Amino acid sequence: MFILKGAKIVYSILKTNISRPFFLLIQAGVHFIKIIPLKIGQNNGKLYICSMSTPEFIIVNKQAAKFIATIQLNRPKEMNALNLQLMNELKDVLKNIDNDDTIRCIVLTGNEKAFAAGADIKQMANRNPIDMLKIDQFSIWDQIHKTKKPIIAAVSGFALGGGCELSMICDMIVASETAQFGQPEINIGVMPGAGGTQRLTRAIGKARAMEMVLSGKFISADEALAAGLVNKVVPVEIYLQEAMKLAEVIASKSPIAVQMAKESVLKAFEMPLQEALYFERKNFYMLFATEDQKEGMSAFVEKRTADFKGK
Ligand code: CAA
Repeated sequence: MFILKGAKIVYSILKTNISRPFFLLIQAGVHFIKIIPLKIGQNNGKLYICSMSTPEFIIVNKQAAKFIATIQLNRPKEMNALNLQLMNELKDVLKNIDNDDTIRCIVLTGNEKAFAAGADIKQMANRNPIDMLKIDQFSIWDQIHKTKKPIIAAVSGFALGGGCELSMICDMIVASETAQFGQPEINIGVMPGAGGTQRLTRAIGKARAMEMVLSGKFISADEALAAGLVNKVVPVEIYLQEAMKLAEVIASKSPIAVQMAKESVLKAFEMPLQEALYFERKNFYMLFATEDQKEGMSAFVEKRTADFKGK
């Protein structure tokens, strides 16, 4: 641990490339008034200091539009390959957004060329099964799945392996015409490990999922639309705007009803029908405890637009 007392020391730490966390203590007289945890990051060979809580591989914008946060995967040189740090950052940000009442809907995107080309092969290549069990990298994905607020994936370019799986963990997918979906793990001697064999099969059926998983073949955006994997396909210039438009519609509804509806739809994959129907019914009855239910039904009767407060 390093305690910084002046800019000179910051500079010397930067020069020595120490990649351990350190703390900036802000002092007023004899009192320390703030302790800021910092770390040294590296991007394209350049060192920089960032807050421990600043994500390195994702860009978060909580003011993308009213009630909407965007999260951009940001490892463009690596085709947004999903390394452990990126996935941890994503999990933390989603948890933070789930606790933020100013956000009602999330848009997750990559860049035009790649949503994400899968788990980081270079990071995994030399691991043995014990390493894999200990690191248990896909347990992070269970946390992501637990996000209560709806997530729309805005996908352009490659969504492969873990990238395809990440788009499927989202609740809806808006794809650009250039999007390609695939589970090519079979080409590198493994198989999907973050939900591909299950979520893909449920989304597009056994025959098509089996072909993709066993042959490693990609499908185009139009094929993904025909198969029911994505919600819509639009020109590459507007895929993000289209995802935002959908997010804006969802964000205009009661956020409590939206979250309970999302939870109920997901139960279709997790519970037998009768139990899931009871679950749905209880959520429906429970919504009558909200002010939003009163507002929504009054607005209908009074022929005006409802103003949902999330209460
Ligand atoms: N992991 C690590 N690095 C990756 C990567 C990945 N999944 N995908 C791409 N990259 C890197 C490449 O190694 C390359 O880096 P260098 O410049 O340092 O060589 C850079 O990104 C650009 O990639 P390409 O030069 O290969 O670009 P391309 O346009 O010729 O091909 C591609 C693009 C078709 C996406 C190709 O990169 C590719 O096939 N990637 C691997 C796809 C894959 O197999 N994904 C599954 C991973 S395993 C998994 O995801 C398990 C799971 O279930 C979670």
